[in-house]
Amino acid sequence: MSLDLLIKNAKVFTHAGPFEGDIGVKHGKIVKISGDIQEQADKTVNLSGKYVVPGLVDGHTHMEFPFMGEVTADDFYHGTRAAVAGGVTTIVDFITPAPGQDLMTAYKQWREKADAKVMSDYGLHMIIREINPIILEQIPEVIRNGVVSFKLFMAYKNELMLLDGQLYQLIKKISDNGGVVGIHAENGEIIYELIQQFLSEGKADPVYHYYSRPDILEIEATNRIASIASMIGKNVKMYIVHTSTGEAVDIMSEYRKKGLKFYNETTPHYLVLNTDYLTRPDGYRYIMSPPLRSDEQRTKLWYRLASGDIFTVGSDHCVYNDAQKKRYKEKVPPFHEIPNGVPGVETILPLLFGLGVKKDIISMERFVEVTSYNPAKLFGLYPKKGAILPGSDADFAVIDPNRKVRISPDLLHSNINYTIYDGLEVEGWNVMTIRRGEIVYEEGQVLGKKGSGMYIPGKLPVLV
Ligand code: URP
Ligand code: ZN
Ligand code: ZN
Ligand code: ZN
Repeated sequence: MSLDLLIKNAKVFTHAGPFEGDIGVKHGKIVKISGDIQEQADKTVNLSGKYVVPGLVDGHTHMEFPFMGEVTADDFYHGTRAAVAGGVTTIVDFITPAPGQDLMTAYKQWREKADAKVMSDYGLHMIIREINPIILEQIPEVIRNGVVSFKLFMAYKNELMLLDGQLYQLIKKISDNGGVVGIHAENGEIIYELIQQFLSEGKADPVYHYYSRPDILEIEATNRIASIASMIGKNVKMYIVHTSTGEAVDIMSEYRKKGLKFYNETTPHYLVLNTDYLTRPDGYRYIMSPPLRSDEQRTKLWYRLASGDIFTVGSDHCVYNDAQKKRYKEKVPPFHEIPNGVPGVETILPLLFGLGVKKDIISMERFVEVTSYNPAKLFGLYPKKGAILPGSDADFAVIDPNRKVRISPDLLHSNINYTIYDGLEVEGWNVMTIRRGEIVYEEGQVLGKKGSGMYIPGKLPVLV
């Protein structure tokens, strides 16, 4: 058999441990893994001195996302171009139906938007923002189309927030059909009250975004939704998205110990940045929800990432340019008008590797678990994605473990002129990305074609 691609002398890391050797690729799939492959290949890459990991699966992106009166600046082309540059070969993006729109129409719209533009592969989650008989009826159909995970919001009152009774009905319906429930856990009612209070006192600077969304409101919402879901039953598979507090992780871990399939995702910005960023002149760029927390919370999250209590790391890539963030005003608008979201898809790898692995906080196995293996399992993509096994898609990120990089916007590929990590120094950088056997990124050059990514339908996950 002649191979399409032969990877030689790689130090390969999977969730189960490292091995050194060669990987043979044919028709986009891994066909052979061995100490020394001698077969003919159309292309051979020698990766001695580099680390090879499964292509990252970013389970949390918002490309072309209509939210807070703006549509995010990274469309499916720019966003997935940034993804592959960062070693992410699969994103799972959020279908966001318009108010009153049914789920299947929104699904078709998202497929149409994404298929023509994606460079990485992609899966889809479904946001549900309201409840009616058509929406409930379409949940099984959505799942049959490969959208097996959903996101429900306990915050963003008057936009995406659902009430407890609606959350209860939807968690039950999704779980009865084998789907996965993602929850944005913050107490939206109290946040709304605090926003009104601060505005009435003339407190409108970006830092009041933080004061209007204190830690306790994530902890309370997590506790509440975990209680509600535990009552529904053992068939619930639920994770709290973008968890920003150690306490919210502990709540889910306690339920998991009792046999429930409850998990947490966190994002790199909660691990790396703190509330002080909101007080800078460009503090408006650092507005996302939940907000950046204290250094004490950052430490708690790193511990829980290392221990295995945090299940996945997604970027929550949700990019607005400066004009959008400022709502086209000269002055920074009041904090509650600033669209929520930050970039991240391209920097998961260097931040977790450089600030986690290189600093001996997390192992390479944990790195692989949280960046590809676990998200692939949770969203029904495993073992096609998130694995280096014969038969799996030949998706790899290639890390130069010793490359020292100072992060700056000119190194990155998002459709904005800033990065929230500007000036941060990391050791370890993605130098090559292989997606289904094709080199789509190498040393600063994006080589992939627009629209060459594929929709990967999720299968109902089995979580043990
Ligand atoms: O601030 C954020 N996180 N923006 C994206 C929407 C969401 O809640 O994930
Ligand atoms: Zn071929
Ligand atoms: Zn959210
Ligand atoms: Zn998000």
